[in-house]
Amino acid sequence: MLFKLARPVIFALDPERAHRLSIAGLKALPGRAAPAAGPLATEVAGLQFPNPVGMAAGYDKDGEVPDALMGLGFGFAEIGSITPLPQPGNPKPRLFRLVQDRAVINRMGFNNGGMDAAFARLARRKRDGSGVLGVNVGANKDAADRVADYVTGITRFSGVADYITVNISSPNTPGLRNLQAKGELEALLEAIAAARQPETPPVFLKVAPDLESGDHERIVRAALDNGIAALIVSNTTISRPSLQSADAGEAGGLSGAPLKALALSQLRRFREIAGDTLPLVGVGGIATAEDAWERIRAGASLVQLYSAAVYRGPGIARYITRGLERLMRADGFASIAEAVGSE
Ligand SMILES: Cc1cc2nc3c(=O)[nH]c(=O)nc-3n(C[C@H](O)[C@H](O)[C@H](O)COP(=O)(O)O)c2cc1C
Repeated sequence: MLFKLARPVIFALDPERAHRLSIAGLKALPGRAAPAAGPLATEVAGLQFPNPVGMAAGYDKDGEVPDALMGLGFGFAEIGSITPLPQPGNPKPRLFRLVQDRAVINRMGFNNGGMDAAFARLARRKRDGSGVLGVNVGANKDAADRVADYVTGITRFSGVADYITVNISSPNTPGLRNLQAKGELEALLEAIAAARQPETPPVFLKVAPDLESGDHERIVRAALDNGIAALIVSNTTISRPSLQSADAGEAGGLSGAPLKALALSQLRRFREIAGDTLPLVGVGGIATAEDAWERIRAGASLVQLYSAAVYRGPGIARYITRGLERLMRADGFASIAEAVGSE
């Protein structure tokens, strides 16, 4: 309600400035506990999630406010993407609100403060809540060896992350998505598997929605062969479904409502192939409890969102979890796990 009143003021600001202000606001908020495990609690990859609704990567790139996000009702928060070395990202402007489309286009380019700074921040965290912390890692733009950057990320954050996401699906680092290609993906995942230590947490893989037929089988096989614990489907799209907003022609990755149908169909395809051998995390255009429920019924064990928080504000997690509980009961399910893939 308050957000509805403030929205015109927030939307009058440059989007990147509004984003920084929201992080500052969360930092200033009195600490609130992560949601307690209730009817929506669910186990994925051996981790206990108090509810299945998470904040997607890219909002809290440097791990400044994961606990504040969980205090808002998110069952988990994925910080990052973080690269080994700090880097400034692309020239501004690089973030665009497409208000008429309820969408966002970004070409941030992994702007972040690097792994040392993020690690130090996370190491100071009190880990007493029930929420789950994911750390999403990427490769530096000018890395000589991108595979080595991912291995560094996994090694670096093993002591502080509940899970680590290998993000090879950002469209804003030239050539990064080639790591999804045949041969490259297998080499990357083998290197990650070889670097695994007893303390390494579950490793998730985040893929792009812009895939061709045949890619899905290959990705699932490579993931299963190399001990990937879950697949996150999906990142932003470089495709452009029909859009109304003035900034529709900006380069970068599109997220929000226009991504929903594509992300859902890719999730369904992965579920068809993987069955229940590989947990899926559904992300892309989720804005309501109905959207989250549809994604779970289609095969997602967990869901994430980012763009909808821009349009609906900080109450979004509670709004969705409340609705999910209602939908779960109405459809006669006793738990989220029971509903996964039940459509
Ligand atoms: C401004 C912005 C920055 C993002 N940065 C990252 C990132 O650094 N790493 C990543 O894996 N995904 C990133 N994403 C993608 C989101 O995590 C998510 O996959 C995508 O936005 C689709 O979800 P949504 O429609 O709910 O926003 C970013 C998205 C936005 C809008």
